[in-house]
Amino acid sequence: MDLDELTARLPKVSLHTHLIGSVSASTVLELARKHDVDLDAAVGRPGCTADDLYDHESYDDLDEFLRVLDVVGAVIRDADDFHRVTYESLTAGGAAHGVLYREIMLSPPGHPGVPYATILDGVIAGARDARADTGIASGLVVALNRNDSAAAGLQLVEEVIADRREEVLGVGLDYSEAIGPPEKFWRAFALAGRAGLHRTAHSESGPPHHVETILDLLGGERIDHGYHVVDDPDLTARCVSERIPFTCTPVSSDIGRYSGSGDGTHHRIREMVDAGLCVTIDSDDPPMFGTDPTHDYRVLARALGYGLDELAQFTRNAVDGCWLDESDKQTLR
Ligand code: ADE
Ligand code: ZN
Repeated sequence: MDLDELTARLPKVSLHTHLIGSVSASTVLELARKHDVDLDAAVGRPGCTADDLYDHESYDDLDEFLRVLDVVGAVIRDADDFHRVTYESLTAGGAAHGVLYREIMLSPPGHPGVPYATILDGVIAGARDARADTGIASGLVVALNRNDSAAAGLQLVEEVIADRREEVLGVGLDYSEAIGPPEKFWRAFALAGRAGLHRTAHSESGPPHHVETILDLLGGERIDHGYHVVDDPDLTARCVSERIPFTCTPVSSDIGRYSGSGDGTHHRIREMVDAGLCVTIDSDDPPMFGTDPTHDYRVLARALGYGLDELAQFTRNAVDGCWLDESDKQTLR
């Protein structure tokens, strides 16, 4: 089997995909029309089409990328919209690439004015229909926006607890690491931990001590990205021995250039794998970065010369690192 076929057919488990970042450009255009949103004005470019909405070459810094992400989030408004984007992300964006199980990251603050319950109602219905039609299973991670205040993060966790749904497995932390270092959200994460929610957080461009803070202060069980952990040998050894999963996203972090990975994210990922860290592979925001689950595996495999053994290990790592009960994990093994 050649690499293209192998990467397409390999069973995958996905722990790092954002719902807002999973919406195809054509769906964004349709939703903008449905809600009378002037997309040209929102994007700041006249004559915006499905072909140029996601101009990934322009994501020189995270803020530029997040600006487009906010435009997309603002056109997803009612439960039908959330049903649609979840269904599309899990079927065409997931099951069609061999994804058996995905933990989807939701960003409620990215949908201004939309009640949390509306988001959950639509997403859960979309996930149920995707499972019925393709067999893909999923869980939800509610991400706090680190550009917001600590109080806003705490309020979101309170909402997650007040409107508790079994599909919501845990909380995460995304957006700008420079604006919101992990310690800013210690209260929100402590509350989430007391409520029995799992916890993860992004650390993409930040120094290794952010990884340490996520583990020790926020009670993080996984790290999203985490490329700079290998700059600290003691911390790396600790993460190896505790088998902390790092959800790496080769294509988005390379294009984004804000990961600070220097000569390419795949070199960082090779260092992480060689150090014995528990690495998983994912797409982050697939259509926004012109990628998909198969493409991420393929790009990494080509760059690092990986074959079936190495690629299958990424999937095994994701099974170990996912937040399903042990008995449900067994069905993926
Ligand atoms: N939200 C969606 N994608 C993100 C990324 N790569 N970094 C931070 N926040 C995000
Ligand atoms: Zn991410």
